[in-house]
Amino acid sequence: MFGCLVAGRLVQTDAQQVSSDKFVFDLPDCERVHHLVVFLLGTVPFPAGMGGAVYFSFPDPALGPVWQLLGFITNDKPSAIFKISGLKAGEGGAHPFGMMAGSQSVAQVGVSVESLDLLAQQTPVSHSAVSAVDSFTQFTQKMLESLYNFTSSFALSQSQMTPNPSEMFVPASSILRWYENFQRRMIQNPNFWKT
Ligand SMILES: *[C@@H]1O[C@H](CO)[C@@H](O)[C@H](O)[C@H]1NC(C)=O
Repeated sequence: MFGCLVAGRLVQTDAQQVSSDKFVFDLPDCERVHHLVVFLLGTVPFPAGMGGAVYFSFPDPALGPVWQLLGFITNDKPSAIFKISGLKAGEGGAHPFGMMAGSQSVAQVGVSVESLDLLAQQTPVSHSAVSAVDSFTQFTQKMLESLYNFTSSFALSQSQMTPNPSEMFVPASSILRWYENFQRRMIQNPNFWKT
């Protein structure tokens, strides 16, 4: 019923059914998992009024698995992408996989089929949502802002200047114009500088 895709790997459809409403995927080599997509294969929908809570657990041979709620898939939203790289081992709360026995040596993804009402009451861990703006674009915007802030802190009007014939001055408005142009091009196409 479910598929799981680690970015850069083959699709996994090998979920083990561990109880009537719970399914688990093994994720070997979890240090190298950054993003994860969990989806309905499309062959079998959720029963009416039901959806899936998606959990992740780091391997923890000492304590046993600690499960963290990543988010949900439903018939209306049959796939979801999650960010694993921001999660921390050892954090987790009450969850339906908590009673599953045994230590495990690989990370796992669990899907728990629950009523939509129950899903609506649960809050996924922070850091699991994939931002619409990638970190590269965020970095670039911060850097533009930082350069603009830094240079404008030196801004003086002509009447404030101590005459210094050998120093070159740049109008603050030209930095602002560059900043606005660069930002606009970045928003239109984050890869514009590659061409
Ligand atoms: C630039 O300055 C604004 C206003 O003072 C501030 O909100 C913002 O955080 C600053 N940005 C950076 C990257 O320093």
